Amino acid sequence: MIMPAPRNFLPGKRTSSNMSEWQIPLSDLDYGPEELSAVQRVVQSRWLSMGPEVQAFEREFCRNAADETRLAVANATAGLHLALLALKIGPGDEVIQPALNFVAAANMTVALGATRSSPTSSAWPSPPSTRCTLPG
Ligand SMILES: Cc1ncc(COP(=O)(O)O)c(C=O)c1O
Repeated sequence: MIMPAPRNFLPGKRTSSNMSEWQIPLSDLDYGPEELSAVQRVVQSRWLSMGPEVQAFEREFCRNAADETRLAVANATAGLHLALLALKIGPGDEVIQPALNFVAAANMTVALGATRSSPTSSAWPSPPSTRCTLPG
């Protein structure tokens, strides 16, 4: 694997983030011919965000589940949004989540008019306004 050269950091000089310069990957991608062929099938079908492949994925995903209510969404942010909507989270509600977390959880909490708070042992048991806890 070819690693990018170290980024020159000049104190006081503003630098921008460039993922191609990252030395340590956040994750490793593991895909091969099966995934490439699936991507090709989707692109050739001209159905990118819904359609037969998404329906097949949802069916397959709930094949062994107790119920059949599974819904594919485009990303985790959309999934968090739907989960909070399903719980009827809104103004006056508090959603506990780690202080060090991806911003999507806080964004979706605030987007619904609720308040995010960090877990603290002094606030145990949770106040009545606490409606749910989102793990990191
Ligand atoms: C903990 C966590 N929540 C939510 C997200 C948002 O995911 P997405 O970019 O798919 O919306 C991420 C993305 O890395 C994440 O790490």
